[in-house]
Formats: sequence, structure tokens, C-alpha cells
Amino acid sequence: MRKLTEANLTDAVVARLAKTTDPRFKEVMASLIRHVHAFVREVELSEEEWFEAIKFLTATGQQCDAKRQEYILLSDVLGVSMLVDAINHRRGGGATENTVLGPFYVHGAPEIENGGDMAKGWDGEPTYVSGRVLSTDGKPVPGALLDMWQSNTEGWYDVQVADTGGRQLRAKLRADAEGRFRFRTIKPTAYPVPTDGPVGQILDRMGRHPMRPAHLHFIVTAPGYETVVTHLFVEGDPYLESDAVFGVKNSLVVDFRRNNSEEAARKVGLPAPFCEASYEFVLKPAGGKQQHVTSAADAARV
Ligand SMILES: [Fe+2]
Repeated sequence: MRKLTEANLTDAVVARLAKTTDPRFKEVMASLIRHVHAFVREVELSEEEWFEAIKFLTATGQQCDAKRQEYILLSDVLGVSMLVDAINHRRGGGATENTVLGPFYVHGAPEIENGGDMAKGWDGEPTYVSGRVLSTDGKPVPGALLDMWQSNTEGWYDVQVADTGGRQLRAKLRADAEGRFRFRTIKPTAYPVPTDGPVGQILDRMGRHPMRPAHLHFIVTAPGYETVVTHLFVEGDPYLESDAVFGVKNSLVVDFRRNNSEEAARKVGLPAPFCEASYEFVLKPAGGKQQHVTSAADAARV
């Protein structure tokens, strides 16, 4: 086709997929081309705006390395991560809901014993978290593995702080034969997503705040069950309604109760007063493809 026009250009580009052998790749690319072209037509993108977009995407890529994933952050703040998550994890049946993985997951967190300390000396409000891992039929899931991570009281994850000397505020814990788990940590606090890069600039330009409500991250796995990638949010947090990455679900909001009892604190190995939270993770028997959990480092590996 030599007479390419505004009207027929999209079809011409899609037609060049004719020799593509992978049908799924072909489907995705054809749709991507049609949607990007439709977007350009709808907003009548100027050349200056197009170049701004190129500069933005370039800066986003330049901000990425093994510890920082600006593209995951971009996907998160545009709601794309949550949409992909929703489409891929239509669980129902009382199973624990997923939420966004976020850009700060790191493989290889240290294992702690059931009841152990994830905070290991970090300042913060002493907190005791306990609960069970159950199947959707109500039976305990013995030996489920909980992979957990959180920010410190200033809102930073270890990978954002230069001299933490290894994995901090991260732990793996194996639930007991009855699916029970418990651990000590510090109460999570609300924090801003990184604002010193292009995603921070675009949030500001959209008139949005960068805050995430306080949460603990969990990946719960057990043989024969769907992996759950989720958070537990702190009830009462002022940002629950406006999470910068749209990750909050009512079923994941948990009361972190203040407990002033010296005796109760002693029992769990914490000073009083402390916060306590409990949750039952409910896993669905695995039916389909398991979620492959990736980290910023995985994305930087080419
Ligand atoms: Fe987080």
C-alpha cells in the first residue's frame, strides 16, 4: 500500500503482522497498535506532546536498575498493575484477594522461626501479627510459606536505603502444621511512592498525592494452592481511600489494636504497649497457571 493516509495507516501497520507465527503475540500486538493509534487520533497528539512522551519514557527507563523499577511504579500509579492483577486472579469463594506486588519485592528474604522477629532492632511501634492459613474448604493449610516485607517508620524499604547491609524488614516464615503463624515486627506507616523520578513528576502534574496507606506485604504459598500476593492494610489510615496505586480492598484492611497489657506483651516477647493484628489467609486449590513473582532485579536482567 503506497497511498498511506490518516484513515488507512492503522490497517496497514496491523497488516504487517501477517507473517507473525505466534498467534497470541499477533493478537496482543494488533490490539496494541490499534489502541495506540486510536489514542493518538482521539487526543490529536501534537509533535511536541509526542516528543514529551518519548522523553518521559526514556527517563523512566533510565531510572530503572536492579533495585529500582520505575516502569512497575508507572504501571502501578496508572492502575494497570491492579487491572492485570484483577484479570488474572478472579478467585471468589472466600479466597484471600490479591493486590499489587509493588516495586520493592526482593527474592531471598531471611527465614525466621514461627514467632520470630522481622524488625530485628528497627525502631517503631512494637507489633505482633498472628493468624492462620486456611483452604477455601475451611481446613488448615499446614506448612504454608509466608514471604513478607515492609518499609521502616520513615517509609523506606531496605533497597531504597544505601547502607542497610542486607535484607532488612523482610522475612520468610513457615506456618505450623495447623496453618498457624505469628511474628513480631514494627507497625507499618504510610509512605510516598518514589517522587524523585519521572513518575513522581507525572503524579504531581496530575494533581495527585504519592501516598500509600500503611501496609505489610505478603506472598503466601503452599503446594497445591494458588499463590496469594497481597497486603494487609492498617484500619484507620488516612490514605485508604486514595492509595496512589489503587491497591486497597476492604477484605485486606485489618485492625491493628493497641494493647497496653504488660502481661500480654511479655507473652509475645514485646514491650508494652504494643499493637496486635490477626488475619486468616484463605488459599484456593490451584486450578490453573501459578503466578510467577518477579522482582525489580528480574526486570533489569536482560
Ligand atoms: Fe509497600
